[in-house]
Amino acid sequence: MPDTTIRSEQLAAQQVEYMHLIAEIMEIRKRGEKPLAFIRTYGCQQNVADSEKIKGMLSQSGFDFADSPEDADFILFNTCAVREHAEDRVFGNVGALKNLKRKHPQILIALCGCMMEEEHVANRIYNSFPFVGLVFGTHSLHHFPELLYRALVDGKRVFERGNDDKKIYEGIPVRRDGSFKGWLPIMYGCNNFCTYCIVPYVRGRERSREKAVILSEARQMINDGFKDITLLGQNVNSYGKTLETPVSFAQLIREIDETDGDYWLRFMTSHPKDCSKELIDTIAGSRHISRHLHLPFQSGSDRILKAMNRHYDRQKYLDTVNYAKEHIDNVSLTSDIIVGFPGETYADFKETLSLIREVEFTSLFTFIYSPRKGTPAASYDDPVSAEEKGKWFQELLDVQEEIAAKRCSAMVGQTERVLIESVKEKTGELNARTSGNIIVELDGSADLIGTFQNVTITKARNWILKGALA
Ligand code: SAH
Ligand code: SF4
Ligand code: F3S
Repeated sequence: MPDTTIRSEQLAAQQVEYMHLIAEIMEIRKRGEKPLAFIRTYGCQQNVADSEKIKGMLSQSGFDFADSPEDADFILFNTCAVREHAEDRVFGNVGALKNLKRKHPQILIALCGCMMEEEHVANRIYNSFPFVGLVFGTHSLHHFPELLYRALVDGKRVFERGNDDKKIYEGIPVRRDGSFKGWLPIMYGCNNFCTYCIVPYVRGRERSREKAVILSEARQMINDGFKDITLLGQNVNSYGKTLETPVSFAQLIREIDETDGDYWLRFMTSHPKDCSKELIDTIAGSRHISRHLHLPFQSGSDRILKAMNRHYDRQKYLDTVNYAKEHIDNVSLTSDIIVGFPGETYADFKETLSLIREVEFTSLFTFIYSPRKGTPAASYDDPVSAEEKGKWFQELLDVQEEIAAKRCSAMVGQTERVLIESVKEKTGELNARTSGNIIVELDGSADLIGTFQNVTITKARNWILKGALA
């Protein structure tokens, strides 16, 4: 089924009208003072990119941005549903706004994002958080101005959960948080239905943006001085399969890479089942693509990978990783791992440990399995206690720390090209990142932020590198 792409002009015409109306209403309410919005984003980069669109729309509606909820006229939390802990944090932080709303009844409190696409969550917000005036899910992002307008003028609570997962809306204004490091969504949704994961239910089916639109946005970012551009999607290497003229992800990044300029191109996330040799060869032969592959394997046990519906086995994963090591000079590998999937035994978990030892990842994102309502795994038998899973988890962290330390100390003495990103508040040191996404701390002037520099690695402390300008 090809995507149904809604063209930008339609969106612009309808929603821009609402943005003007909001600006007028707020100008009267604030007696000419600029209204302020406070946006807090939970979850992954996909949510960060969505928040940048929301900020773009708010900016065009006359808003500036506040650093804390206390100063804002409009408070929005963009939520994540991936694990229970993420949801609990949102509920806790929303609850804390109750007093603020009591003191300042004119503020509008809103929730959006992945959690709001879960019916039971939206119902709980409706029933237990009466001070929340606007709720909308990921499928309603494109008509946020219209929803905000209704919440402002109708005086009624607006709750909207869409079912628009076959469409892509172009032309939404984006207000990027950074000036040299930026996100570029190339596709939305996911078709993989890993048995533990809520994402396909809250983000809908996989759909790709047109290659021409992505190329033009990427070139614009490069022109605007972005030095580190990350292409985003839940499974970027299945990019383009549903387009009218199918395009492979490798082809897309090859074409972006042809654009001249001093920048790094990254992407997230690749699924091991679709990580082709073509993609690895493309990275190896590119001028701008970072020497980094984030390739989540989740578990080292074939039995568990099958139960997770991941569509690859340990050997296929190792073959892919070994091909990458052979072909991409100095490749840095990172991964996501779930510990304690229902039915996982200690023997299965040891397979995960042995895979980590074999691959030697630079860093890992590790999670204890969290049951998600509505996913198949939530109904599987899960006999291992939380305490036991906690012990396995700690064992995993210890092994990875040892590996990361070994990998980092092997880099001492090398010269690396890094992008200087920020100043550490505590020490005044600069934070920088290598092409392989490894953090390096060094002394230097804050003027260097946003520039590439060559740095000699002088020390490795656990997994953090210390360097000096070369
Ligand atoms: N699309 C990406 C991952 C998105 S979610 C991919 O397939 O790699 C990010 C990570 O969260 C996943 O890789 C997984 O490790 C973890 N995760 C997802 N659902 C989870 C759950 N129910 N419990 C624990 N971890 C989970
Ligand atoms: Fe979730 Fe799997 Fe899709 Fe990643 S690929 S978002 S883990 S269903
Ligand atoms: Fe969370 Fe949604 Fe991302 S569930 S991890 S914010 S896609």
